[in-house]
Amino acid sequence: MNATPQARSAANRIPTDIHCAQDYEARAREAIAWPSHEYIAGGSGSEATLRANLAAFAHHSILPRLLRDTTAGHTRVELLGRSLPHPVLLAPVAFQKLAHPAGEVETARGAAAMDACMVCSTLSSCSLEDVAHSAGHDKWFQLYFQPARAATLDLVRRAEAAGYTALVVTLDASIQAPSIRSLRAGFQMPPDVRPVNLAAYPVPPQVSLEPGQSIIFQGMMTEAPTWKDLAWLIEHSTLPVIVKGVLHPDDALALRALGVAAQIVSNHGGRSLDGVPASLRALPAIRAALGNSYPLLLDSGIRSGGDIFKALALGADAVLIGRLQVHALSVAGALGVAHMIKMLREELEVCMALSGCPTLADIGPEILFD
Ligand SMILES: Cc1cc2nc3c(=O)[nH]c(=O)nc-3n(C[C@H](O)[C@H](O)[C@H](O)COP(=O)(O)O)c2cc1C
Repeated sequence: MNATPQARSAANRIPTDIHCAQDYEARAREAIAWPSHEYIAGGSGSEATLRANLAAFAHHSILPRLLRDTTAGHTRVELLGRSLPHPVLLAPVAFQKLAHPAGEVETARGAAAMDACMVCSTLSSCSLEDVAHSAGHDKWFQLYFQPARAATLDLVRRAEAAGYTALVVTLDASIQAPSIRSLRAGFQMPPDVRPVNLAAYPVPPQVSLEPGQSIIFQGMMTEAPTWKDLAWLIEHSTLPVIVKGVLHPDDALALRALGVAAQIVSNHGGRSLDGVPASLRALPAIRAALGNSYPLLLDSGIRSGGDIFKALALGADAVLIGRLQVHALSVAGALGVAHMIKMLREELEVCMALSGCPTLADIGPEILFD
């Protein structure tokens, strides 16, 4: 039975055995119906990239420096003209009613409590307007290009009207790579969990294929965006456009040249093309290509403040949290989300203090052992 776990949300208190942000992962196994849990936790294909993300963080060690004064320390970061109190953002995660009956609205409340920027997915199970209403000042809207430009443009206008301050265009998932794990678990989207933002847009007619044509190339990929579409979007959006899903330095350079305001180095948490490198491993070359002043974020595989520290050391200005956000949501609702962010921030601050880095700008590649 693939039910949304209504009962759990009623608890709305933090279990006493949560001692670090990652503890929410184990607790979520009890809080989320098993097939839904597998859909959320799993990766695509053989999960090689999912594992690589975690291994990349484990590979690096921190080489601390002694006797530095960190008493003026802080975690503030400037991003797109805003001063954020910490570099922990919430990644766009679709269908959060799988984890909590109030879905993304509940997550937004948790993010707001911690002054964390939340990125609302196109595929959210609450409307982007309702999410914006509960979120704090810093909120971005994640945009998937729709088959019809009119629908894409309508989403942009709705995001602008709702008060989102940037568009995050995800480009690494033009088609959905199958998750063998969730197929094996028998996952099916429950009927009450829907991509409500798209409800008003007409479903495009199915492409009819000629004999010998491919369902992928001549079918699904005919709706995938290209460089022309991104240029069109930048021209038509009043919001800064951020691109998510960058792994190649040449793409990063071309995106910047097109007018993209910031980029997110990401492999979709190992949920899109299986076999691509860990985001953390792709990061240094992209930072080197773009130079130090261009806004660059990273996600995929972050489970602790130590992981955030390593991402910042290798060139990220800030990071986004995917699965941990939903895990915390499932265990303790908005309170869990806020608590998870608070723990990540404190874990980061411990790393900074004990390694002699009072500010994020002090965290460079030389603070890592390899
Ligand atoms: C259940 C689930 C749904 C997701 N939905 C989206 C989405 O709608 N749009 C998007 O750009 N990324 C989506 N992502 C990817 C996340 O934004 C992020 O890149 C990834 O989760 C980061 O890796 P992590 O989970 O290891 O932190 C989703 C991830 C998960 C786990």
